[in-house]
Amino acid sequence: MADLTSNFLGIKSPNPFWLASAPPTDKEYNVRRAFEAGWGGVVWKTLGSEGPPVVNVNGPRYGAIYGADRRLLGLNNIELITDRPLEVNLEEMARVKADYPDHALIASIMVPCEEAAWKAILPRVAETNADGIELNFGCPHGMSERGMGAAVGQVPEYIEMVTRWCKQYYDRPVIVKLTPNITDVRKPAAAARNGGADAVSLINTINSITSVDLDSFAPEPTIDGKGSHGGYCGPAVKPIALSMVSEIARDPATAGMPISGIGGVTTWRDAAEFMALGCGNVQVCTAAMTYGFKIVEEMKRGLSQWMDEKGYRSTSDFIGRAVPNVTDWQYLNLNYVTKAKIDQDACIKCGRCYAACEDTSHQAIWMKEGRVFEVNDAECVACNLCVDVCPVEDCITMERMEGGTVDPRTGQTVSDDYANWTTHPNNPMAKAAE
Ligand SMILES: Cc1cc2nc3c(=O)[nH]c(=O)nc-3n(C[C@H](O)[C@H](O)[C@H](O)COP(=O)(O)O)c2cc1C
Ligand code: SF4
Ligand code: SF4
Repeated sequence: MADLTSNFLGIKSPNPFWLASAPPTDKEYNVRRAFEAGWGGVVWKTLGSEGPPVVNVNGPRYGAIYGADRRLLGLNNIELITDRPLEVNLEEMARVKADYPDHALIASIMVPCEEAAWKAILPRVAETNADGIELNFGCPHGMSERGMGAAVGQVPEYIEMVTRWCKQYYDRPVIVKLTPNITDVRKPAAAARNGGADAVSLINTINSITSVDLDSFAPEPTIDGKGSHGGYCGPAVKPIALSMVSEIARDPATAGMPISGIGGVTTWRDAAEFMALGCGNVQVCTAAMTYGFKIVEEMKRGLSQWMDEKGYRSTSDFIGRAVPNVTDWQYLNLNYVTKAKIDQDACIKCGRCYAACEDTSHQAIWMKEGRVFEVNDAECVACNLCVDVCPVEDCITMERMEGGTVDPRTGQTVSDDYANWTTHPNNPMAKAAE
């Protein structure tokens, strides 16, 4: 039986599924129920400075993007950090940690970018016995207008400076949570490492406007006729998160730095993908908000079953396994030739592949009498679009051409040798082949 226990930065938890800092981790009541439901750890809803707490809007704070079956694909929010007093959160955190010593409890913090503010809050957080802190440099709305959150996360120098203060005034692990609202995520990650961070976590939410009401002409969610951008999350952001994680995992300046993966994790498979790209654990928000705390049961069961099937005894057996396979486009093998193949028994004759290929790809699918769809290998460039639009899973597959056979499209013999753009004769910058 696979061992799901997790050790991230020396912080032990029964499994690698943590709840991200957000409404599910807003208070003692939630966190206790989350632990009872099986979550391995939580990052408490972001704490602010001592004093009057922030105030949230009193109108709608969410917007949603749905799939055809009204499954929630993307969630947009304009919520701020915790709107409960600091003392209340700290007391609750201390109580929960005392009762659940084997679960991970991390304090997320966002205070002004001044040394005094960090120096003041860190000892108080340490008193709760939380296992570590996560610096919220990612919140893209509201707090960023006050010079916090993403406003710090977009300036690597600030990240490094604040991280250094935290390492100076706090002696447990410091995780820097990164914003995706930046051109090159490797820069803030490197700044976090330079400042002494023990890990980075990513992604926080992406600047977004879900929709515009075409009667009132106001962005949604609408507050008294106005709307502002919010932060986007949920399944729709997973590809962006995976790409950013992979960049950090393979960049020499940050390679090997522990990563906590966040962004659209909904199933065990999503989690395994983040971990294969180098994440030591994952954090979840939208999936818990959509399906409730019990979704972790499926995540744990699925991951454990897959690990058993693969013969992995612990998560460390597959963490980072995909990192060496992430490369730059110029190194992809141009001698890898495939052709689309339609399984006539599975085909329901809907014609989507034909429309897609005929109108927007390479006119490589014939529609023959009786709505029989067949691929013309002499035109197929193997773009894969037909596979993506076909409603029947595995009805169209991409089949590799064997070395020595002739590609009817190019008239060239397929080679088994690896060859990429850096040495290709059409490349004006090509290096001489070695
Ligand atoms: C309503 C809401 C509130 C959030 N509040 C915080 C927060 O206080 N601090 C923080 O670091 N991230 C916050 N987040 C971001 C999440 O922690 C997480 O980074 C993001 O939602 C991506 O994960 P997901 O796709 O699993 O939701 C919030 C997200 C949502 C939806
Ligand atoms: S792989 Fe692309 S070119 Fe080939 S049949 Fe499909 S859509 Fe057409
Ligand atoms: S999209 Fe798929 S099911 Fe529809 S005609 Fe093409 S192969 Fe058949």
